[in-house]
Amino acid sequence: MTIIVTGGAGFIGSNFIFYMLKKHPDYRIVCLDKLTYAGNLSTLAPVMNEPNFRFVKMDICDRQAVYGLFEEEKPDIVVNFAAESHVDRSIESPEIFLQTNILGTAVLMDACRKYGITRYHQVSTDEVYGDLPLDRPDLFFTEETPIHTSSPYSSSKASADLLCLAYHRTYDLPVSISRCSNNYGPYHFPEKLIPLMIVNALHDKPLPVYGQGLNVRDWLYVEDHCKAIDLVIHDGRIGEVYNIGGHNEMANIDIVKLICRKLNKPESLITYVTDRKGHDMRYAIDPTKIHNELGWLPETKFAEGIDLTIDWYLSHESWWEEIISGDYQNYYQRMYGGR
Ligand code: NAD
Ligand code: DAU
Repeated sequence: MTIIVTGGAGFIGSNFIFYMLKKHPDYRIVCLDKLTYAGNLSTLAPVMNEPNFRFVKMDICDRQAVYGLFEEEKPDIVVNFAAESHVDRSIESPEIFLQTNILGTAVLMDACRKYGITRYHQVSTDEVYGDLPLDRPDLFFTEETPIHTSSPYSSSKASADLLCLAYHRTYDLPVSISRCSNNYGPYHFPEKLIPLMIVNALHDKPLPVYGQGLNVRDWLYVEDHCKAIDLVIHDGRIGEVYNIGGHNEMANIDIVKLICRKLNKPESLITYVTDRKGHDMRYAIDPTKIHNELGWLPETKFAEGIDLTIDWYLSHESWWEEIISGDYQNYYQRMYGGR
């Protein structure tokens, strides 16, 4: 069994590779990654010398190169994590999101059609459903919830999902799609809420909370997401969408205060800043389908997962220090300077 994992030098893709190499030691895993600002080769150092692992630096939009890799590796399964993933960057510059997230997905599926695979899996997001109101805690996203996007990022992911379903119907490509809620855990790039707050707090820097901090996200420990994808690619039904989420809704401000408490930092570091444009209010996944069909349930409670995550950042300072000392400084200034 050979699996091509795209975007495997990023946050969730790398955790997926670690999980799969342990769970299926007889599989060959080929990681295809462009190494954008969000991809980090040092993340994959622990597996780089494994005989059944190969890393290839490549852009999923590079049709010729992608076809060459498929010709060489003849993958059975493709799991597409590769994407521009940060909402704020998509608001600043949408184009690369359309290129990678939509056109890149098309190139990968064209390669799958040309060379034949048993499964193409698209890693999508709950953001394709738009948002839910705060005063209706009874509402959740199901797989039937209409697509209703808010940002260039979520629109690009929704477009890719539609393209996957179209390739299934038109070309009979064996696709599946998973739509997960917010992940947290090791190797999360420090532009995202939880790692950004941990890293800033450790430096006694202001903790920039958008708006009033009341927006709600449904947090899932990254390994639980990886386990769900492993189930879907093996036993999930072709042509189907599976929502993944653990019923763990929290307001942003509560997360930031929790991080302050855990790191023994004063809440006076919290700084309310101008809200994100088009900011989604609440995400909440109904994971009944994946539970009923595949027996998936989240295993890591938030109380445990956040401790594991904070401990990981405390013990892997060199990983994130290297990131924040580079071009990240310019990004931070652009995004937060004078906000
Ligand atoms: P990330 O930004 O940490 O990693 C993305 C990876 O993709 C990086 O390694 C990057 O180098 C690579 N990449 C980007 N453009 C590429 C291209 N053109 N060709 C090849 N590689 C390219 O993202 P993440 O948070 O790990 O998210 C992975 C996937 O999961 C994305 O598709 C995202 O939409 C989806 N998702 C993320 C979350 C979350 O909470 N982070 C939740 C649900 C779904
Ligand atoms: O729901 C899944 C999505 O979760 C994924 O598809 C995306 O790839 C991933 O980035 C994430 O999107 P969010 O926009 O929810 O995540 P982010 O960490 O950027 O922000 C989480 C919340 O925290 C959101 O309401 C905005 C807020 N926020 C974020 C940052 C970076 C702040 O208040 N301050 C910040 O500095």
